[in-house]
Amino acid sequence: MTTFLSGIFTRSVGKKIAMGITGLFLISFLIVHCAINATIFVNDGGKVFNEAAHFMGTNIFIRIMEIVLFAGIIWHIVQALILTLDSRKANSVKYAKFDGKANSKWYSRWMGLLGTLILMFLVVHLLDFWAQARFTGLGIPPVMIDGKEYENMYGKMLEVFSVGWVVVVYILGMISLAYHLMHGFQSAFQSLGLNHKKYTPVIKLTGTLFSIFIPLIFALMPIAIYFGFLK
Ligand code: HEM
Repeated sequence: MTTFLSGIFTRSVGKKIAMGITGLFLISFLIVHCAINATIFVNDGGKVFNEAAHFMGTNIFIRIMEIVLFAGIIWHIVQALILTLDSRKANSVKYAKFDGKANSKWYSRWMGLLGTLILMFLVVHLLDFWAQARFTGLGIPPVMIDGKEYENMYGKMLEVFSVGWVVVVYILGMISLAYHLMHGFQSAFQSLGLNHKKYTPVIKLTGTLFSIFIPLIFALMPIAIYFGFLK
């Protein structure tokens, strides 16, 4: 019986650790992605951004990291599905009364739904940018910068964010991301056992600020373009 119980324990702890590691990896991707994209706010017609996007699209190390990134996203989703099924099974055993509403925030209980909304956003997003840049080349006309030819990824952004419903999808995606991160950020640290009287409140505060500011900066990109603040 003890081995049986400890088996379940280590298995689900292992899954939580995997969620924590992949979650932190995806968080670090978001920082880099947001920082590079935020160069559009320089409002220089996308010069700096196009150069940065070109570097990201051609550098061999970044290209390898892209494969790791997609593997990380898939692993994160698969582990999330397994954990959800596991906890459903565990909750169907009525040996303890657990009142979710009293013990957790709504977004902690709806992580699966928020994750699914982010996945839907990601499909729309990757079809608009990444797939066209990597596979078709159709939607990205070139632009000359200092006598060199670049894919005009900024021009693509202006085109994509000129459509109202796309801007709404991005805003909804970023609201889902904010709440998903609100739980995920500090939960990742907890799953990795990085719990400490002194540091946990700092991690919580950093997590809250991160969860608000990163999605907000992302959301301001389509908004600024749609309303003509960026040229
Ligand atoms: C307004 C917000 C965003 C804009 C304008 C934007 C823009 C872009 C662009 C232009 C690319 C293509 C880069 C290239 O292939 O050279 C890209 C790729 C990508 N984006 Fe975003 N992005 C935004 C938000 C997000 C968010 C919130 C996520 C994740 C939740 C995300 C995940 C990805 C992924 C996974 C890729 C493909 C991998 C890569 O090329 O690095 N993006 N994005």
